[in-house]
Amino acid sequence: MAIFKKQKSKNDLSTDTMENGVMLITEVTPKDVVSEQFRTIRTNVEFSAVDKEYKTLIFTSSNVSEGKSTVAANTAVTWAQQGKKVLFIDADLRRPTLHATFGLPNNQGLTNVLTNKELDYHDVIKTTRVENLSVLTSGPVPPNPSELLNSDRMKNYIELLKGEYDLIIFDVPPMLQVTDTQIMAAYVDGVILVVRQGVAQQKAVTRSIELLEMVHANLLGYVMNDVASRNGYGYGYGYGYGYGYGETK
Ligand SMILES: Nc1ncnc2c1ncn2[C@@H]1O[C@H](COP(=O)(O)OP(=O)(O)OP(=O)(O)O)[C@@H](O)[C@H]1O
Ligand SMILES: [Mg+2]
Repeated sequence: MAIFKKQKSKNDLSTDTMENGVMLITEVTPKDVVSEQFRTIRTNVEFSAVDKEYKTLIFTSSNVSEGKSTVAANTAVTWAQQGKKVLFIDADLRRPTLHATFGLPNNQGLTNVLTNKELDYHDVIKTTRVENLSVLTSGPVPPNPSELLNSDRMKNYIELLKGEYDLIIFDVPPMLQVTDTQIMAAYVDGVILVVRQGVAQQKAVTRSIELLEMVHANLLGYVMNDVASRNGYGYGYGYGYGYGYGETK
């Protein structure tokens, strides 16, 4: 079921990147079976995090193009649809796509907030056509993403945002190419690993888990992307630190 075609929003005014956005199937067709799968992911993340505070979450993967942005954006939409006040932040400062997904300009975003003390971040966060869902685009791609993401300013900023939103979800780069995600995994409440079936190598997933364990990240579970099922190719969810191909719930 190749439902996720890259789409470029008609309103995309971005000038600094040619990356395309992802399909918001949960917004466009909330009754679709795939939207239901994203709601199941939402519920399973909630179960995984039961009794723990989970206000800040990242969706990552071992390597590129495993579906991080698709899963993060669609799951964020389902939380907003449930009534949670959600902020979705593009912290993939190397291959940002959130602005294209939501048809927003990207001349100001996270990187500006972190580097320009004069800027009121409330002016940079944008509402979307999805009720309860606000977004913060990446802003211009900086020369030093890891340093920015590891800065006290970033951590203080997140603390401020936690007071204003029920849930903050970050789109981030893959684990194995750069250290950005490992850095963030150390200070967010939970990490969900997206594993694309037939693409992700077991070794790469194992290495990603090691990197997460190294920083004592709270790995809540896995999203199995492109899982063959009765309905075609969809999304499944697995729990915990263990890993087994095809084991989805
Ligand atoms: N289950 C799926 N079926 C078909 N296509 C999919 C599926 N999941 C993701 N895709 C497509 O695969 C491509 C990569 O997805 P996405 O951009 O979400 O991945 P990513 O991990 O965020 O990539 P990057 O590493 O570049 O940030 C997109 O074109 C997306 O539409
Ligand atoms: Mg992405």
